[in-house]
Amino acid sequence: MCGIAGYVGPRNAVDVVFDQLKRLEYRGYDSAGLAYVDEGRLHVLKKAGKLTGLGSLLAESKPSAHTAIAHSRWATHGGPTDLNAHPHHDQDAQISVIHNGIIENYLELKSDLVSRGHTFHSETDTEVAAHVIGEEYRDGVELVEAVRRAVAKLRGAFAFVVVSSAEPGTIVCARNASPLIVGFGEGESMVASDIPALLPYTRRVAILENDMVAKVTVDAIKFYSLEGKPIEPKPFDVDWDAVAAEKGGFEHFMIKEVHEQPEVVHQCLAGRVEGDHVKLDGLFSDHVWHEIDRINIIACGTAYHAGLMGKWMFERMLQLPVDVFYSSEFRYGEPLLSPRSLAIFVSQSGETADSLAALRLCKARRIRTLGVVNVVGSSIARDCDRVLYTQAGPEISVASTKAYTAQVLVLLLLVLHIAQVREMPGVRVPEIVQDLRGFAESMRQSLDLEPQVKALAERFKDSKMVFFLGRNADAHVALEAALKLKEIAYIPTQECPAGELKHGPLALVEPGVLAVFGATDPDTQDKLLSNMKEVQARGGTVVAVTTNEASAWADEMDTVLRVASCETKALAALSTIVPLQLLAYHLANLRGCEIDQPRNLAKSVTVE
Ligand code: F6R
Repeated sequence: MCGIAGYVGPRNAVDVVFDQLKRLEYRGYDSAGLAYVDEGRLHVLKKAGKLTGLGSLLAESKPSAHTAIAHSRWATHGGPTDLNAHPHHDQDAQISVIHNGIIENYLELKSDLVSRGHTFHSETDTEVAAHVIGEEYRDGVELVEAVRRAVAKLRGAFAFVVVSSAEPGTIVCARNASPLIVGFGEGESMVASDIPALLPYTRRVAILENDMVAKVTVDAIKFYSLEGKPIEPKPFDVDWDAVAAEKGGFEHFMIKEVHEQPEVVHQCLAGRVEGDHVKLDGLFSDHVWHEIDRINIIACGTAYHAGLMGKWMFERMLQLPVDVFYSSEFRYGEPLLSPRSLAIFVSQSGETADSLAALRLCKARRIRTLGVVNVVGSSIARDCDRVLYTQAGPEISVASTKAYTAQVLVLLLLVLHIAQVREMPGVRVPEIVQDLRGFAESMRQSLDLEPQVKALAERFKDSKMVFFLGRNADAHVALEAALKLKEIAYIPTQECPAGELKHGPLALVEPGVLAVFGATDPDTQDKLLSNMKEVQARGGTVVAVTTNEASAWADEMDTVLRVASCETKALAALSTIVPLQLLAYHLANLRGCEIDQPRNLAKSVTVE
């Protein structure tokens, strides 16, 4: 999620990596820094805030070097401060490290290092990794070998880039899950987290695959396996223009973000599932979870829809009463708040004015508050008593996609955490954790439905109205699917629990109407079938989004989209959001809509 750049060659490497960072600016970040090696010494400059802060430091010191690395940070561990900005160094300050990802076992590693006299200056997991690499980097061991040995001790998703004062002219990188690309220039070599950073310098690139280490020097880039075996890089030429490259080759940020969801699942769970249980750091102490008698979830738009899924999971699994409020209604609704209640604020941006106003009201009434937020250090994250970050990475498209998935997952993790604390025998935590571990793969399978969804969009691109229906958790996903369609394709939608159809909305069904049913819940399938028949009898076309295991009736529908089966009902329902996001996207694209910036809407709504 962070931006990474590195250069070795005849140009001023500091200028090159700063320029490369600027080319990654579209991703969003909260601090930036760089390290360069000059005359056998490491120099580090870093600053919280926009790139202009780092730019001012460079303008003052005008450094020049032939080896440099740089990083723009999207905070995960530790707030966006100068000290937490990358690069970080090891105990002997001999190496400098930048990192994208999350080291899951950093706390264990840190306490071991502290017990052996190491001192740390930041709250980051990256600094711990720098110390681990530093420990391996002694007795004449080469940097590439030290990184290789250190990586074996780290758990999680990461891409590292490392330089050493003792090896000027060398950059070492390692990758597991987070992206890293090397660029082969003419008499120069470079590395970046994303192709756009490389394009002004070279179009010849190779992807460092998972579990590989690379040694990048001015005239060679060598890849190695984690066992130290040389691997032949597979360079290719990028023919995208710079704008397409920012979007990873996708036409829009929205579709890129939809496709990022399997990785987002990994990021969101990183460090939070261990063995067969859930481990959430930084929450209230256990007695608070016993004391809480009611939860209020407060949010807007997509985040509100995630909150509805939260209610569904909390009430079913924990028998804890939950209300979900639109932030704008909560504020003026004179809410009755139990002093033992907890208010959960769900927000991607952490800056939504309505939610902030509701948060102020809760604070004035001395109600405990918890943020479920994507942007680290944002106002809601700072002002809540506790915060759980969704770790979905920067979301650029106005229409929220991957943040929704991460919000629902974090709420599920919270349910499991409370179930563990309250020792609820009815909640099968190990089984649900197992389903969570397989969920990234489920999301990948949902993405495989794209050709079918595209064909469906072709058929219905002139729709005047689309229905989104379901029962139980599927009914909540239907609301989010409808919001996606109306906000980017400008098609009016009708969304409600399927059982409500006959109480009114059925009057709108006529030939040409498309009705999309979420149908993952086996307990309500018979009832749902009746609702589908009601639509078909009035000339509507029915699309069922159901699981691999769903019964044969699904074949009676006009189109059936099958997602992976999953015992945990909330997860089965959640995996249907992917084909529904894809449907909104392809309909909008076919209708020529402005997808990433839909009319009248803004990414962060900072007015009430
Ligand atoms: C819809 C969308 C909005 C936001 C809402 C809340 O795609 O993005 O409905 O979900 O404005 O924003 P956050 O989550 O930033 O508080």
